[in-house]
Amino acid sequence: MGARIGVIGAGQVGAAAAYLLSGTAGVSDVVLVDVNTARAAGEAADIGHAAAFGNAARVSEGGYADLAGASVVVITAGASLQPGQTRLQLVQKNLGIADNVVEQVLRAAPDTVLLFATNPVDVMPALAVLRWGVPASRAIGTGCMLDSTRFRDRLAHHLKVAPGAVHAYVYGEHGDSQVLHWSSAVAGGVPILSFAEQLGRPIDAALQQTMAEDVRDAAYRIKAGKGVSNFGIGGCIARLVHALVADEQGVFPVSTFMPEVLGVRDTCVSLPHVLGAGGASHAFMPPLSATEGEALAASAAVVATTLREGMA
Ligand code: LAC
Repeated sequence: MGARIGVIGAGQVGAAAAYLLSGTAGVSDVVLVDVNTARAAGEAADIGHAAAFGNAARVSEGGYADLAGASVVVITAGASLQPGQTRLQLVQKNLGIADNVVEQVLRAAPDTVLLFATNPVDVMPALAVLRWGVPASRAIGTGCMLDSTRFRDRLAHHLKVAPGAVHAYVYGEHGDSQVLHWSSAVAGGVPILSFAEQLGRPIDAALQQTMAEDVRDAAYRIKAGKGVSNFGIGGCIARLVHALVADEQGVFPVSTFMPEVLGVRDTCVSLPHVLGAGGASHAFMPPLSATEGEALAASAAVVATTLREGMA
């Protein structure tokens, strides 16, 4: 018997997540919850018609009561980025929505793992911990999982190697203050800048800056083109849910509430965490160059300020 997964919000992100979850190993049923029940039912029916092609998990529209026994509840409900807006500017609107959602989810599934995708995603796990007493291990933000994927893909594209051959991480805020962790990026165990040099496709400081902007601004570009980003984040959600329900003990750059990071109190930023059946481990601190350390501390401070102001 596989796991029950809840998805709150049947918008573009929630629907993409539900579709990808329906084909995720270890998931047997997905409950799609939305105030617009007709939309949730329509998405569930549409996804169900893909079942014959390998997406075997049952996807159904349901209410919060149907989340009982859910191993993981994915929270995607909330307003999405508008042109010219940053994720942090969504805090007032989305923190209120998330607050109401978390209360109802915990009433039905008090022991579930909460996996947040609603932006500003890094303040959401902190809300669950500080206002609802959820253990930090069971309140996870997708954080920089998507940014790390974008960083890895950008490097792979330049180097003309398979994305899976590149290991590269982004830490900090899932947003404009994110930190590309160049000092740990490798391909085949070779530091990425050396690998690029040996390959004859060097990455100089200017190109590093361009790549960082490409990764940071990806969501804005996607939004300008199609109005929303949903498949990348949907893929991250499905991958993280698999790690949780399979008790994988994999390591992922996600965000959890931390009392202190690099001298910044009460914040929530992406760092390496081990994910398994119980949720997320404590955060691991990677070795950081002086520049990376300063940038990560600044990023943690941005999230801490947004959280403090949002919850005031
Ligand atoms: C993005 C949204 C999910 O980065 O924040 O595409």
